[in-house]
Amino acid sequence: MAEVLIVDSKEAAGALVADHIAALVAADPQFTLGVATGSTPLPVYQALAAHAAAGVDFTRMSAFALDEYVGLAEDHPESYHSVIAREVTVPLGLDPARVHVPDGTGGDVATAGERYEAAMTEHGGVGLQLLGIGTDGHIAFNEPGSSFGSLTRIKTLTEQTRVDNARFFDSLDDVPIHCVTQGLGTILRAGHLVMLAFGEGKAEAVAASVEGPLSAGMPGSAIQLHSHVTVVVDEAAASRLQHADYYRYSQANKPAWQGL
Ligand code: PGA
Repeated sequence: MAEVLIVDSKEAAGALVADHIAALVAADPQFTLGVATGSTPLPVYQALAAHAAAGVDFTRMSAFALDEYVGLAEDHPESYHSVIAREVTVPLGLDPARVHVPDGTGGDVATAGERYEAAMTEHGGVGLQLLGIGTDGHIAFNEPGSSFGSLTRIKTLTEQTRVDNARFFDSLDDVPIHCVTQGLGTILRAGHLVMLAFGEGKAEAVAASVEGPLSAGMPGSAIQLHSHVTVVVDEAAASRLQHADYYRYSQANKPAWQGL
């Protein structure tokens, strides 16, 4: 099962996860991090930037993003190429040549998924994958109904996801309808999944993903198929977990050698 860590704040979650990543990079400068967009991973990136400022060298680390909109120019401020550059590549001092984001532009979008899968395989995969979760349980842009075996491909965003993301655009009409996203099967190949969630609005999706039945209707439940998953949540996002007392007990008795 997933290890569930209940922390006091987003900042505490960011520090916990960033300390772990910084240690991995110190041990293996060519470590590969799977990066997510959205507001959830920002505390991790902020804490990683503090490690960079304190001297941790991220210049040889590689990164693979989960997804990208189809039809937005790469230099559009809300393309995930731009978001990852702004939030991860520049603040951490990553080499842009080692940062990979699916290709949502150009005439060859039909092969974007295949090309991204090939690039990931050739690289040797992702060591640790950061994940957020949508209120409807989506991870990356795998909307409810996505196959657990799915690979990187074009998906249609739900109207709800477009409404949720409209805050980043001038209007709902500007939010793309399609995306290219790693599949659940792609995500499950990463060495370690670290899912973060904050706030009451995520509580139901977190509980269903960690404790509910495996279901394509709840894409987050795919994490139950992975052998190494850490779920880091604040009290509000943990509020619907049935076994929260057990998670707190495990956390209080976590062996020091175990790490994240
Ligand atoms: P959020 O989005 O991090 O902005 O809440 C998460 C998601 O939709 O996956």
